[in-house]
Amino acid sequence: MRIVPVLLALTAVLALTSLSRAAPRVPGKTLVLLENYSLRQTHSTFFRQLQEQDFTLSFALADEKKLSLSSYGDRIYDNLIIFAPSAEEFGGSLTVRSILDFVDHGGNVIVAGSSSIGEPIREFGSECGFEFDEESAAVIDHINFDSKLDNGEHTTIVTDQIIDNKLIAGTNKGRVLFRGVGLVQDLSNPLTIRVLSAESTAYTYFTDEKISVAPHVVGSKTVLVGALQARNNARVLFSGSLDLFSDEFFNAQVNVAGATASPSANRDFAISAALWTFKRSGILRVSGEPKHHLAGQTTVPELYTVFDQIEYSLRVEELVDRNWVGYQGNDMQLEFVMLNPYLRLTLNNTGDGVQHASFQAPDVYGVFQFRVDYKRTGYTYVQVHNQIPVRPLQNTQYERFIFSAFPYYASAFSMMGGLFVFSLVFLYHREAPATKKN
Ligand SMILES: *[C@@H]1O[C@H](CO)[C@@H](O)[C@H](O)[C@H]1NC(C)=O
Ligand SMILES: *[C@@H]1O[C@H](CO)[C@@H](O)[C@H](O)[C@H]1NC(C)=O
Repeated sequence: MRIVPVLLALTAVLALTSLSRAAPRVPGKTLVLLENYSLRQTHSTFFRQLQEQDFTLSFALADEKKLSLSSYGDRIYDNLIIFAPSAEEFGGSLTVRSILDFVDHGGNVIVAGSSSIGEPIREFGSECGFEFDEESAAVIDHINFDSKLDNGEHTTIVTDQIIDNKLIAGTNKGRVLFRGVGLVQDLSNPLTIRVLSAESTAYTYFTDEKISVAPHVVGSKTVLVGALQARNNARVLFSGSLDLFSDEFFNAQVNVAGATASPSANRDFAISAALWTFKRSGILRVSGEPKHHLAGQTTVPELYTVFDQIEYSLRVEELVDRNWVGYQGNDMQLEFVMLNPYLRLTLNNTGDGVQHASFQAPDVYGVFQFRVDYKRTGYTYVQVHNQIPVRPLQNTQYERFIFSAFPYYASAFSMMGGLFVFSLVFLYHREAPATKKN
């Protein structure tokens, strides 16, 4: 009788494990913070396209009570969208500090600003290397503005300065509509990426004031959309414009003076930048352990000897349409390092993502590292380190006679010969006895 509940429990456990094995969870839990619920209508296409890509969106007002990104130190969400440009503070336990913690724990964030930008968004931007312009400033362009959508202030601008990277911005080229605040990239931060810039005729200033001081930023230095890929591969996307994601701009025709109307590129641009930010493209991983061994062998030795012929290989995979496939790139490099790299070799891609190198160990002994440190815009970082000692030749491994030592051999033998001759002379030479003179 007592065996029945045990059996039941066992089947339940088995069913659960097989379930979790059947469907690998795609990280897609997303919290969407809105300024007001009317954004769900005005930005419905953007949200719907994310839902079609298996993101589960939980909507909340930015100042809602009980907001939290983590529970007992674990992230609750994979991604965060902040569509609340003018929020002066967030609800619940949400602060700029907790959003930064979320990024530190690997969470991805999309933030959109507008000309009425609040302090928390600006602070978060400057922590991540992008300075939003001041409140009520806007990007203005008196040449490249949209003649239909603009209200006369020339703040509904048009640009085609999209980053040339298909992982981030997709392949579709076109012109993007933008209305909002400009960003300044912190050029000393190497992790920031400029995704969309303004045309060279743009500048950012207050729309209702005469220009009395130099604008904060002018021309193509004005960043409209910027991204940060943190060292832990978490991604953050900053857009100066919330309207860039709106249905109105997704479906609009771009009308610039002197050019024929064409559909805006906003939809493709925004969706592919969002999918990149939420780690659906540009993801690399190392599959298994890197292998290294002597040429002609397969086992990993405990150490190498100087001049050994070493084979190194590593399999790298890329996430394409949610499947892991062998990485196609052939610009990965291997370094053989002891403090400094003694060798830097470009790995040969031998198919199916296997990166391979064959090289001779240098004539230096010590503790070396095989090091692959791969950083490319749009891809997650690949860093692999393996330590291995390299020892000098053993006594028995040297050549017996070294050509360049012949002068020394010659001097040793000539010394011996000389001594022999000297001994003979010393032993057998007899001076003639001195003859008396008188
Ligand atoms: C909702 O927020 C947006 C973005 O700030 C704003 O443009 C819009 O006027 C707001 N709508 C309402 C009904 O308050
Ligand atoms: C890559 O392949 C080429 C041609 O087979 C070879 O000459 C080169 O040494 C290889 N590179 C490495 C690092 O093994």
